[in-house]
Amino acid sequence: MTSSGAKPEASIVQFAQTLFYERALVSFEGEWVGAIAAIPKSPRAASSQPDLNYGEIFIRDNVPVMAYLLTQGHYAAVRHFLETCLRLQSNDLQTKGIFPTSFIEINGQLVADYGQRAIGRVVSADATLWWAILAHAYVRQSGDRAFACQPHVQQGIQEFLDLILHPSFRDAPTLYVPDGAFMIDRPLDVWGAPLEIQALLYGSLLSAAGLIKIASESTPAELTGDLYPIPDNRLQKTLDYAHRLRRYLLKHYWVNSKTVQVLRRRPTEQYGDAIENEHNIQTETIPHWLQDWLGDRGGYLIGNIRTGRPDFRFFTLGNCLGANFDVLSSKQQDALFRLIVQNQSNLVAQMPLRICHPPLSDADWRRKTGYDRKNLPWCYHNAGHWPCLLWFLTMGALRHQQQHRHDQQLATEMSQLLDTAYDRLLTQLPLQNWAEYFDGPTGSWMGQQARLYQTWTIVGFLLVHHFLKVNPTDAGILDVPKLQDLNSGKPWSASPRS
Ligand code: GLC
Repeated sequence: MTSSGAKPEASIVQFAQTLFYERALVSFEGEWVGAIAAIPKSPRAASSQPDLNYGEIFIRDNVPVMAYLLTQGHYAAVRHFLETCLRLQSNDLQTKGIFPTSFIEINGQLVADYGQRAIGRVVSADATLWWAILAHAYVRQSGDRAFACQPHVQQGIQEFLDLILHPSFRDAPTLYVPDGAFMIDRPLDVWGAPLEIQALLYGSLLSAAGLIKIASESTPAELTGDLYPIPDNRLQKTLDYAHRLRRYLLKHYWVNSKTVQVLRRRPTEQYGDAIENEHNIQTETIPHWLQDWLGDRGGYLIGNIRTGRPDFRFFTLGNCLGANFDVLSSKQQDALFRLIVQNQSNLVAQMPLRICHPPLSDADWRRKTGYDRKNLPWCYHNAGHWPCLLWFLTMGALRHQQQHRHDQQLATEMSQLLDTAYDRLLTQLPLQNWAEYFDGPTGSWMGQQARLYQTWTIVGFLLVHHFLKVNPTDAGILDVPKLQDLNSGKPWSASPRS
């Protein structure tokens, strides 16, 4: 493999497509089933020296893969991926209903990792949440409603919902997870109710509800068997849960300069129902960098809420998903994009986008990561820069401009930011061998342990190119159903044009 140097745009795009279609995608039972996480130097190197688990098909790494395949009309591959994941949905007593982090075919057999083989034995709650979102996007884009009506698909959806809609010790609508349960799959003080998981939960509840509604309103021609029995009031309970979750996120996670001033003046040690400081948070937990970062008109969803210990770090993916799934109102999306424009020297810098800001350092790094050398400050998950994140921001900004009332001046600034960021990918990625991530406060050094020819770097670039240069209206590709549409009592048409 040679780098493409300073070739013109068209040949770089073509090179990325060749890498993707010919080296990253793999087949199972005669059809593409997804892509491996990183392309090995040569197929021989892959079999003689397996590179940890980067030769496996990760569900999360395949989110951009499936989004891209949908934009290219490769529906059969997306359906095969979804069906294969369903076959691997856990049936064990303790984990029934979860989807694996990754899987691989070995001698004709699928072998899955649910965390029992992962470094540090981390679980990935995001894979399970993504499945419903991808399944809904597939049905919406391909028009294949019959897929959603199949009894085993509906059963899979019910088993997923069983994981959420059950009694527990907490009554908050957030999903409580251990450290490292999503893209950040190492200890980084992201245990409890991290934003990314909550935004995904919101999107997946609405997607699951949309898929249930499609099956319950199906015509005989769309049915391939009996309807799978749906527990009483399941649809309404799912919608009520999503509604509560959104209210909770907007109340406890959303900050702007006004809300911070209210937070700073709250009393503590309150008991009972009508109180202002439910999580008993001390003013001193609010970091000083926040004032500058928010400015007068910026806003974002903070990283986590826990009793006494909120996490004010900015997590890029969770915020982009909050916009993409409309957890945020259109005004709040304006404030979020304004914040990103204002802080682009941090977030975009030399390589879009920084995964979170600011890094954990010193004693925090030692205690909270367990001296994790891969996650040193400004490295990897700890404020490193990941090119695979730019497509989420591009999608969020474009759909906001297309679907909501928005600030025109801001939209122009955002477009400039995206163009600059795209140019960075275009010039840097071929030179840097499509690396997985970049380190340092400006993100200009290739990550110390970064894999090269990382699939989501390659396909993320292809998606940004597609949204900005080919078909901006595809920015709605991962749209989830709107709560008010599902609640309206009207039949639900998943079509993008409805
Ligand atoms: C790393 C990343 C994780 C990704 C995996 C495969 O473990 O932290 O998010 O899914 O590599 O690329």
